[in-house]
Amino acid sequence: MKAEILKMLRENDGYVSGQQLCEKFGVSRTAVWKVIGQLKEEGYQVEAVRNRGYRIIDSPDVMTEEELKSLVHTEWAGQNIVYYAETDSTNIRAKLLGEEGAPHGTLAVADMQSAGKGRRGRTWASSPGRSIYMSLLLKPDISPVKAPMLTLVAACAVAKALKTCTGLEIQIKWPNDIVVNGKKLAGILTEMSTEIDYINYVVTGIGINVNIEQFPEEIKDTATSLFLETGNTVKRALVIAEIMRFYEIYYAKFMETKDLSLLQEEYNRLLVNRNREVRILGVKETYKAYALGINPSGELLVRRQDGTQEVIYAGEVSV
Ligand code: BTN
Repeated sequence: MKAEILKMLRENDGYVSGQQLCEKFGVSRTAVWKVIGQLKEEGYQVEAVRNRGYRIIDSPDVMTEEELKSLVHTEWAGQNIVYYAETDSTNIRAKLLGEEGAPHGTLAVADMQSAGKGRRGRTWASSPGRSIYMSLLLKPDISPVKAPMLTLVAACAVAKALKTCTGLEIQIKWPNDIVVNGKKLAGILTEMSTEIDYINYVVTGIGINVNIEQFPEEIKDTATSLFLETGNTVKRALVIAEIMRFYEIYYAKFMETKDLSLLQEEYNRLLVNRNREVRILGVKETYKAYALGINPSGELLVRRQDGTQEVIYAGEVSV
């Protein structure tokens, strides 16, 4: 009931009377009053005015199921939320939820991770209280070879949502690093369980540096946070809600063609590497080329110095 009361208070700009809440949930005034008390204890500022009712004035920076449920207004993305105050890795949790039959769009969210995973076997530092660690469980009816494209769908959604929430000039470093002013703000790690021609599930894990005030010496020149870029703290649940909103829009476009044709333009607009010289750290050689943008499969098109065009499938690209 706490989640529903919170949602109802959020959906009303003005006051919601105790009577309305009692009638809606079929409970006594004391029961409503108790829930309001719990919300206050959790850090919500609820104003109670005689003859008018209750109104939310401020909320804490938490990503609990109740908080997210009251803010996420999607059809399916993030409609089933599993929150962990602490866990090993939300990707591990989302995969287990996938095995257990959790629905498409289930979102595992954690306040801290003890075994956060990054790409290429790296770890993802996951201290408590200030960042977003979340993994979206997807069950798309597509061929397994197309699943990596979902990482680019997520990159688009994260970049657009962060831009909307903060006004910052957020960009994507191909294929899926989220950067601002040349520093990394967020990373995405997609993992999947497939048969030869069938996807059991895909898990897209997203880590975002939100309110981190200081980075360790080794990464302070390459990493940043929304707080460091804007000078303001940002409510993490609002960011998650916005990402879910954009994800649903972009996923629908992806499913329409089962490739990135309808997202290519949007992605290329956000691409930091576009029309710039990049260094391709290939398996056999490292070379410089001019990045042109992605193709409908999400591969990076580059023009080499001799004028020939090439498609980059994997490997690292540095700006
Ligand atoms: C990268 O290396 O850029 C990808 C980092 C992905 C980190 C996120 S945090 C939430 C999810 N759980 C994990 O263990 N990893 C991803």
